[in-house]
Amino acid sequence: MNEVLKNMLTRRSIRRYAEAQVPEIELNEILTAARFAPCGSNSQFWHFIIIQSEPVLAELNGLVRMAFASLEVDMNTYVSMRGGKEASKREDYAFYYRAPTLVVATNRKTYPNAMADCACALENMQLAAHSMGLGSCWINQLTWFGEEPEIRAVLERIGMPEDEKVCGALAIGFPEGSIPEAPSRKGDPFVYVR
Ligand SMILES: Cc1cc2nc3c(=O)[nH]c(=O)nc-3n(C[C@H](O)[C@H](O)[C@H](O)COP(=O)(O)O)c2cc1C
Repeated sequence: MNEVLKNMLTRRSIRRYAEAQVPEIELNEILTAARFAPCGSNSQFWHFIIIQSEPVLAELNGLVRMAFASLEVDMNTYVSMRGGKEASKREDYAFYYRAPTLVVATNRKTYPNAMADCACALENMQLAAHSMGLGSCWINQLTWFGEEPEIRAVLERIGMPEDEKVCGALAIGFPEGSIPEAPSRKGDPFVYVR
């Protein structure tokens, strides 16, 4: 198996991080990988806000916890949202897993490929990070709650353009602890037409 495929098959979502910051050289390479992701009509409308400020992460964390607190859930609510609401009650909750870097991907509200383009960029970043021994995890709380006025205000204050929305985010840092192998895949999703 070639190295690119091996990198894809061994990447895992990392939810425990060492304190050490992502080195500048690696961060720049990861961000370059984001910029070279495919995107609709080569629009490149996206923006990436790189948050490495503990006070800003703490501020967003507090607001995410408040958003979860007022979120009404029932059995039809997306399971991760229900889980997130429960988790957010814990005093040590951090939606970004206390990763030293959180990259927030934003894109134009009115652009039909906003989410798809950012997803390509986020996946490129995940694979780039993994290839360098760094860990990452897609973080969706700011996508869910990004339109809450207080969260939007923080995001705009730190650089999100007014006409954009959060499409996803990525926690990045050095993994702490061992990384389990990817579990075997479920079912058979392929339909061949030959
Ligand atoms: C669109 C999307 C949203 C996700 N949101 C979160 C999230 O908010 N928090 C989290 O811990 N993991 C999140 N994940 C990571 C998934 O849980 C993870 O990719 C999945 O369980 C498979 O595990 P693996 O990445 O280790 O292969 C998300 C992944 C995707 C693609």
